[in-house]
Amino acid sequence: MPKTIQVHYQVEENSEAIGLTAADWIASSVEAAVGARGTARIAISGGSTPKRAFELLADPAHNFCKRIDWGRLLLFFVDERCVSPESPDSNYRLAKETFLSKAPLPEGNVIRIEGELAPEEAAARYESAMRNRFRLEGAELPRFDLIVLGMGSNGHTASLFPHSAALHETMRLAVATQVEDKNPWRVTLTWPVINHADKIFFLIQDASKAEVLKEVLLGPYQPERLPSQLIRPESGELGLLLDRAAASKLPPPAADGRGLLEVGR
Ligand code: 6PG
Repeated sequence: MPKTIQVHYQVEENSEAIGLTAADWIASSVEAAVGARGTARIAISGGSTPKRAFELLADPAHNFCKRIDWGRLLLFFVDERCVSPESPDSNYRLAKETFLSKAPLPEGNVIRIEGELAPEEAAARYESAMRNRFRLEGAELPRFDLIVLGMGSNGHTASLFPHSAALHETMRLAVATQVEDKNPWRVTLTWPVINHADKIFFLIQDASKAEVLKEVLLGPYQPERLPSQLIRPESGELGLLLDRAAASKLPPPAADGRGLLEVGR
């Protein structure tokens, strides 16, 4: 019998509601981790979908900023384009503009991927930063409290693109990868690292993602074509936060917008 995992999903009306719920999930994960261990370690993605959540985290009109004990948070990145940290394409720059420049997160608590370096060097330095911050030994993997992912309409997540060599990297924590994009090189966490997290959630919106999301969750296992299928937490939770358009091909959620799927491994 194939193993199955449970995937929780929540469907929201619009991107503002996705932003509010995502900010709440992030703040709750930080609160829980700080409460349990005195520190929280999270990794965030770039892309357009998380932008509103990031802005809300630092917005004084909401309580997310006050709920987060910023001095006890270590912030990592899921992936990065190999560009300078000032580039409009940099995930670090997105985080800086939306919340790092406004929230009291000490600079030393931000572990960015140095996209300005040669890709292999940036990946090696990021791996070694993770080893130090998590005090890892040997083949140990970091256990992030939360990893926030997005998904592309081609089924990629993080910078794990269809048919790329990065999909076969299972020994390293981070890897350089070449993608079809105006910035061809990126550095990404490897999928075993993502799957070792305590909580993983995807933020997905737009009708262009509906069919591929259905395939990722309910179709045959084809991770070469649909790398998001590689994301199956070892023992943690997997949640999806979706707008109506992205969720339109999944079984309809309950009246409160929540749904649950059993997904084969
Ligand atoms: C990035 C990502 C990438 C992203 C998806 C979804 O930095 O671009 O890490 O995996 O999450 O491409 O992007 P959107 O939110 O823009 O649809």
